[in-house]
Amino acid sequence: MGPFTPVGRLRPAARPETAMIVAERIPEVRRQVDEARQREETVRLVPTMGALHAGHRSLIQTARRDGGFVVVSLFVNPTQFGPGEDLARYPRPIEDDLAACEDEGVDLVFHPPTEEMYPDEPKTTVHVADLTGGLCGAQRPGHFDGVCTVVTKLLGIVRPDAAYFGEKDAQQLAVVRRMVADLNLPVRIRACPLVRDADTLATSSRNRYLSDQERSRALALPKAVLEAGGRIRAGERDAAAVERRVRKALEAADGVELEYVAVVDPDTLAPLETIGQQVLVAAAVRVGQTRLIDNCLLRNLDDRGEA
Ligand code: PAJ
Repeated sequence: MGPFTPVGRLRPAARPETAMIVAERIPEVRRQVDEARQREETVRLVPTMGALHAGHRSLIQTARRDGGFVVVSLFVNPTQFGPGEDLARYPRPIEDDLAACEDEGVDLVFHPPTEEMYPDEPKTTVHVADLTGGLCGAQRPGHFDGVCTVVTKLLGIVRPDAAYFGEKDAQQLAVVRRMVADLNLPVRIRACPLVRDADTLATSSRNRYLSDQERSRALALPKAVLEAGGRIRAGERDAAAVERRVRKALEAADGVELEYVAVVDPDTLAPLETIGQQVLVAAAVRVGQTRLIDNCLLRNLDDRGEA
């Protein structure tokens, strides 16, 4: 941003004079996107499962700032939830979500019923090998196949020039990037930084499941990953030592059940021995019934350990 770029709630590319379109059906999305293209607008897609919060909003704001025709999809994708996961109780506050989209100057909301996305038993699945086996993939078998398949469908429906993903879900971002590269999908993937609430907990639709006590216990997770980031910035290069410290902190935390800690390359998700130019420190825990993830992603670390 240049020195004279205004900041704050100004939305330079928003067009409040145009009413936001809400489409439930694929042909309507295609028609609206075709019309936007005829107006020579760049088409941008922010895929979400709704229950929009500050993290989602930051993606939408980035897309809005980049300009053009901004599409947000709100779809709780059943194929990425495992048996026993929270599909049925996943929040669906559609009125609030539409108001948030309107507020952010979104041009089109795609809010399909499940049968619009999956009219029959699907026979095709997109699977990205290797990158999906570890971290969250180890705990949630089939999850990333569901994600990759629905993202491919959304890209096929909207055909955006650019699609926006959050670094909060760092593995998802790496997997989607790899899928887009491997399949030569004509879309640019834009990564947006992880957004935290004031108490440092990563903003998430699932945070609303937490009681006050669980929420304060959950703060051990951001504390551990942010501390790891601090140590790496200060020059720590031993990946196993970083992993051990995060693990110890989370194992010692009251009411927190550790799922995994990983210190990996953020693009390949391969475990690191020595931390080089870039690193992802990712962890997942359970607090009560709620599964939470967090990470610290560092790129452009130089040899002296400064980010
Ligand atoms: P959902 O969890 O709704 O997240 C939608 C997008 O918002 C993802 O790219 C996610 O990384 C981003 N996001 C969520 N919380 C964030 C935070 N605190 N900071 C920055 N970005 C954040 O991820 C999904 O939905 C689904 O898997 C989806 C890609 C939509 C496919 O169904």
